Amino acid sequence: MGLLDGKVAVVTGAGNGIGRGVALGLAHAGARVVVNDFGVTVDGRDPSSAAAQAVVKEIEALGGEAIGNAESVATMAGGQSIVDAALARFGDLHIVVCCAGILRERMIFNMTEEEWDAVVAVHLKGHFTVMRPATRHMREKRRGRIVTFTSTAGLEGSPGQPNYSAAKEGVVGLTRSTALAMARYGVTVNCISPSAETRMTERLPDGRRAQAAAPPEAVAPVVTFLASDRAAHVTGQVIHVRGHQVSLWSHPAPLRAITSREGWTPEALAEVYDQALGQDRLRRLDALGIPWPPKAE
Ligand SMILES: NC(=O)c1ccc[n+]([C@@H]2O[C@H](COP(=O)([O-])OP(=O)(O)OC[C@H]3O[C@@H](n4cnc5c(N)ncnc54)[C@H](O)[C@@H]3O)[C@@H](O)[C@H]2O)c1
Repeated sequence: MGLLDGKVAVVTGAGNGIGRGVALGLAHAGARVVVNDFGVTVDGRDPSSAAAQAVVKEIEALGGEAIGNAESVATMAGGQSIVDAALARFGDLHIVVCCAGILRERMIFNMTEEEWDAVVAVHLKGHFTVMRPATRHMREKRRGRIVTFTSTAGLEGSPGQPNYSAAKEGVVGLTRSTALAMARYGVTVNCISPSAETRMTERLPDGRRAQAAAPPEAVAPVVTFLASDRAAHVTGQVIHVRGHQVSLWSHPAPLRAITSREGWTPEALAEVYDQALGQDRLRRLDALGIPWPPKAE
């Protein structure tokens, strides 16, 4: 008996990499799966239905049940069509996993509006377009599981990916908001931050690629657990997965506070700032070897 017998799942971006592994993992655990993939290049071009269809065939070859959907998650109509496909074909929807993604790297001072919009549309809006119709259904049924996808590029920052970092940190905010909103309906919402070797990480510099080295299939068991009845009590979490390691990340919370009886002047704050508040140093300053503070000229 599978952990997800009788469940219906949709997985976006399931034609490649982590999403493909998740779709196969959910199907292996007994779920019927809508395999969504727009079938584009890593930078989001040349759509095709081939990627989704190939994974449907893989699932069927393993004895599972799946249908393909080649719509883009970047539009409201696309998101609706993915949820509708599950309801029309399988009559229900229990699980949503949002793996669709693209990259358009550029430094903030050179980034075009088009590069910004395209990445935010697939990652951040691309969660909303599916989650809105899905949460309407789950609210009515008073149960459901949603798994979103962030990145350490969002959680820690990434200097050449302002669009991606912003969208991925936005996904964490969306996760927390939806976890709070859906708690009373028995719907859980958790966020995965993966590190896995896929076509997406082929674009990383060598050193960072070595760090990411882990198979994309390693993410699937964590998603399957979160999608199952065994994780009914787990919500609002950010969970990093790299290979065999699963780690729980903290939520932002105040570190230190100072209060002035009379109210602050900039000068008074400057006097005490370093000693009383200090900074929460960006981990990636040191990880990426970025000198800070700058040496005096
Ligand atoms: N691989 C990693 O180490 C890593 C690290 C951090 C975050 N992530 C995140 O994990 C998720 C999966 O990434 P991956 O590495 O498997 O990438 P991938 O490129 O292998 O897969 C992404 C899939 O999304 C599909 N897609 C793109 N735009 C789409 C759209 N508009 N609608 C529907 N599908 C679309 C692509 O066709 C592709 O099949 C992404 O959200 C990514 O940002 C991955």
